[in-house]
Amino acid sequence: MKKLLSLVLVLSVMLGATSLALAQGPSGELEIFSWWAGDEGPALEALIARYSEINPNVEVINATVTGGSGVNAKAVLKTRMLGGDPPDSFQVHAGQELIGTWVVADRMEDLTPLFEEQGWMEAFPQGLLDLISTDEGIWSVPVNIHRSNVLWFVPSKLEEWGVEVPASWADFLAICPTLKEAGVTPLALGENWTVNHLWESVALSILGADGWNGLWDGSVSFTSPEAVAVWDTFGQVLDCTNEDAASLSWQQATDMVVGGTAAFNVMGDWAAGYMVTTLGLVPGEGFGWAAAPGTDGVFMMLSDSFGLPVGAKNRDAALAWLTLLGSAEGQDIFNPLKGSIPANLGGDVTNGDLYNPYLQSAAADWASNTIVGSLVHGAVAPESFTSNFATVMEIFLTSRDATATANAAQAVALQSGIGA
Ligand code: GAL
Repeated sequence: MKKLLSLVLVLSVMLGATSLALAQGPSGELEIFSWWAGDEGPALEALIARYSEINPNVEVINATVTGGSGVNAKAVLKTRMLGGDPPDSFQVHAGQELIGTWVVADRMEDLTPLFEEQGWMEAFPQGLLDLISTDEGIWSVPVNIHRSNVLWFVPSKLEEWGVEVPASWADFLAICPTLKEAGVTPLALGENWTVNHLWESVALSILGADGWNGLWDGSVSFTSPEAVAVWDTFGQVLDCTNEDAASLSWQQATDMVVGGTAAFNVMGDWAAGYMVTTLGLVPGEGFGWAAAPGTDGVFMMLSDSFGLPVGAKNRDAALAWLTLLGSAEGQDIFNPLKGSIPANLGGDVTNGDLYNPYLQSAAADWASNTIVGSLVHGAVAPESFTSNFATVMEIFLTSRDATATANAAQAVALQSGIGA
């Protein structure tokens, strides 16, 4: 009898502990891996702060590797993934960067159950769900929508220099000499990847949305006359940029515009996040924006997402992380600081107390424009193409030969299976 009593006691203590643990949620360490360090950090840090409130027993390790567009982080991630040491969750662009790299290699967990449980099949736009899915599953949770093709400037400065916001690259090239004569850099440019970033806006303007899409579905060759023409215009645009570009981060290129030493900059709208959250500028006054020349009506999108790698050490804590970042609540914490709009349709994007005028205008364009995907930020082409595109760009920068560069781009496209 005594034995039975103590067994009942032990069992009830065990059950109590289990339900306590369930009530307390996940515990242990959660390593979140991204390139949102320093100036890029506040949005992620705010989301982590909320996560820690909801999951007080989890110790979050915010592992960042500095470098815009993930130039350094992606290499570190590759080493870790291949070495069997995945972080619990990592930043990856929706689209081919996710699917063509980690999904084809069977390194990600299918998140369909999470999407179903959270009602996310209806909460995200279908086009975005398509970017993160294959027939076998859904592979990441999008936290935002960023726009690649944005032109930034300071309205009062343009007035001072007597120039208008260029509606096309031809307009821009026409005011380039005026700005140079005024001692102003017409277009601020930064390190390598920002050169590719500029290229994708120039290409979109020359090819249009259909032509741009055609590069990735193989219906438009890189050697077609209009694709060769992209390089000609691009070369002329480059002649209107600063000579020290290679040594500047994207933030430093933005600083040139804000500080009045450059007139324009083409950058994704994380630049709005930087100018508002870090520099404290007021949208519309401290800085203005327009679609990159010749791309009005087209929204070149990219989406930052986080996934659950196979073998994550703290899967429960990672699932709780994904649950928060995919939720409308999480997205409304993150995006106003980041310069992006919520991917979750339940986000409160019309709330002017949360989302500033730039973000409201981005949301309106997202809802009404033709949507295409970014090359540089992982949406349209596999990593093999994106990384080899650096070599293609190098050929152009050293030779300025549009035809030779176009031929190299076509060879890289074929190697990567684009258009095959
Ligand atoms: C992009 C990323 C943005 C921002 C930017 C600059 O690839 O999607 O969220 O971080 O790089 O680093």
